[in-house]
Amino acid sequence: MGRLFNPRSVAVVGASANPGKIGYRIVENMVKSGYIGQIYPINPKGGEILGWPVLRSLAEVKGDVDVAVLSVPADHVPSAVADCAAKGVGHLVVVTSGFSEIGNIAQEKEMVSIAHAHGMRVLGPNIFGIYSASSRLDATFGPGGILPGHVAIITQSGALGIAMIGKTAAESLGLSALISVGNKSDIDEADLLTYLAEDPETRVVLLYIEGVKNGERLVRTLRQVTRRKHVVVIKSGRSARGAMAAASHTGSLAGADDVFDDIMRQCGVLRAESVQEAFDWVRFLATAPLPPGEDAVIVTNGGGIGVLATDACEKHGVRLYDNQVVLASAFAEVMPEFGSSKNPVDLTGQATGEDYARALDAVFARADMHAAVALYCETALFDTSQFAELLRSVYRQYERTKPIVFALFGGARMEAMIRELRSEGIPVFGDVYEAISVLGALYRSARRLAEEDDEEPPAHDIDLERIRQVLGRAGAEGRGFLLAHEAAEVALALGLRMPRSILSRDLDEVVRAAETIGYPVVMKIVSKDIVHKSDAGGVALDLEDRDEVVDAYQAVMRSCLRYKPDAVIEGVEVVEMVRPGVETIVGARQDPSFGPVAMFGLGGIYVEVMKDVSFRAAPIGAHVAREMIGSIRSYPLLLGVRGGRRKDIGAAADVVTRLGQLIAECREITDIEVNPLMVYDYGEGVKAVDVRILFDTQGGDAA
Ligand code: ACO
Repeated sequence: MGRLFNPRSVAVVGASANPGKIGYRIVENMVKSGYIGQIYPINPKGGEILGWPVLRSLAEVKGDVDVAVLSVPADHVPSAVADCAAKGVGHLVVVTSGFSEIGNIAQEKEMVSIAHAHGMRVLGPNIFGIYSASSRLDATFGPGGILPGHVAIITQSGALGIAMIGKTAAESLGLSALISVGNKSDIDEADLLTYLAEDPETRVVLLYIEGVKNGERLVRTLRQVTRRKHVVVIKSGRSARGAMAAASHTGSLAGADDVFDDIMRQCGVLRAESVQEAFDWVRFLATAPLPPGEDAVIVTNGGGIGVLATDACEKHGVRLYDNQVVLASAFAEVMPEFGSSKNPVDLTGQATGEDYARALDAVFARADMHAAVALYCETALFDTSQFAELLRSVYRQYERTKPIVFALFGGARMEAMIRELRSEGIPVFGDVYEAISVLGALYRSARRLAEEDDEEPPAHDIDLERIRQVLGRAGAEGRGFLLAHEAAEVALALGLRMPRSILSRDLDEVVRAAETIGYPVVMKIVSKDIVHKSDAGGVALDLEDRDEVVDAYQAVMRSCLRYKPDAVIEGVEVVEMVRPGVETIVGARQDPSFGPVAMFGLGGIYVEVMKDVSFRAAPIGAHVAREMIGSIRSYPLLLGVRGGRRKDIGAAADVVTRLGQLIAECREITDIEVNPLMVYDYGEGVKAVDVRILFDTQGGDAA
């Protein structure tokens, strides 16, 4: 990738003397940005563009060509790629549209395979180009004027990316790189992130993603990069459409966006809701020092905004310093009689600029106060004209030591001041939530940066051979799902605790089975032809004695045969009636974007309504599984409510890690779901009441 970001020479194939064409704009931007290498405009007509001689073909270039930007129509691309291959070009930057985005997949694949055969990597196609601050290269057809800085943007959207160029300039946001990835035929986010993680100029990476292609690789890369750099993502397409086609609970609960959201959090990536929020975050992250600790102090001249800020801190995970004795003494000198030194430190409406500055000095003087939030409401007593200078000097004095954010409220003069200070790169906001949101983003990312290596997922002793045999037998019958006793066999091989169960073929066997297991028992029909057992009347619960078992057997048989007269019935399964616990659901599936994904949530009949679930890319370790369990809204049920005892969360986490390992190692299984998984009191473990498994012996990739 180094050659792509720091090329010694760039050829523009399709360079045009016509200022209305993209091939002209790219050359123009390269010239204007002051690119430090050699520019080779290529066009069969020859001539000159902006003082650079135009060569008629790549073959005429005397030296090496590190990067070739292709700006010729799609049907000219194959011959241009062949010319690049003959010339020994390093990277192709294919601006041209008209490939996989309109269904022209074969031509795109062909281009990449020819490029690879000649040692070339491909950026694009269907992109607006690339900017790299280190070589002052703007090889895009954007509006120009990109400021150098420390934020790298990788964008899948062309139009939004080009718009971002203008916005970064308007917001004085400096970039280390800007890369349009378009169709991601070869180079994708993971390749670029790997390079940018090492790039000394890049402090923050902003990703704009529309769809994830190779999610497993992206997850692996992000997990490493977020331990070195701040990474912010904006993703469009928060729709639940992907869930509609799903065949299991795990699938239907996995709204594509929820999975994305949870996995980004798992990777330590900050997900912004909007472009504006993302810009605010990356600007702050690129300049702010890491907080030396968790305790922030709010200094305000208004009680109301102080309360708003406190709420925002809770929402964004910013902890407030709360040693009241220290607060009282630290701010004693600046505090009016009726002020409050409780955090928020309220200097009241009569505070002067000097009081303000001294209060902030007090925060920065103390090693145990780690970040400052300065809030200000315009008041008649305050000399606002001096205020900008005061904030500027406070900021410049402390900007390298601890994070500080400002939120100012007032009339037109305040608004103008906010604009002025922001243009100087000072983190000033017109809204308290925005100010706390950037500080929260910094805290979240700083915690990730400080994290030790991700734990290794446990290697449970799973009998994969036995599991594959069960799948093989069912697959040979043309099925893509397992029957209950087959799923139970897999669960056993996976090391799950299931209720005792005996397959019985006639009434005598049924009664004997019930007596062996002990009452009460459950009865379930076993038939390949009846998948939805309850709908067919094929399930009887809570059978207390022999008589109830006999009656239930006859009733189950009758209603199943009425439901499907030609059904082949293998018998019934007599199962131990499981005692109640907290009903949870544990699942794992092959996600279309991210590959193996594990799910944990609150189970029971309201699972679809509550959608109280969380997802993680699998395999996962016990620590992540516990953190995942702790992230659902109903977690207090597992901690024990209303005098109830704490539940066996460790045993539930163990099941999550087992399913995660299975789905990662056995790609033929597309969905596995334990619903419900009964979780009992601490020390009493869990029980997998029902296990469902879908598989595809044709489609599974090797793990
Ligand atoms: N080698 C060198 N030059 C060539 C070759 C070749 N093999 N073949 C043609 N040319 C020349 C042409 O003669 C022309 O030069 P001229 O202006 O002197 O006549 C120049 O290359 C360009 O060719 P045109 O046929 O004029 O093509 P045009 O510039 O109109 O379009 C383009 C080419 C821009 C690549 C177009 O096909 C395209 O794909 N446009 C969409 C780009 C895009 O939107 N990218 C997506 C991301 S950005 C976003 O979405 C906003």
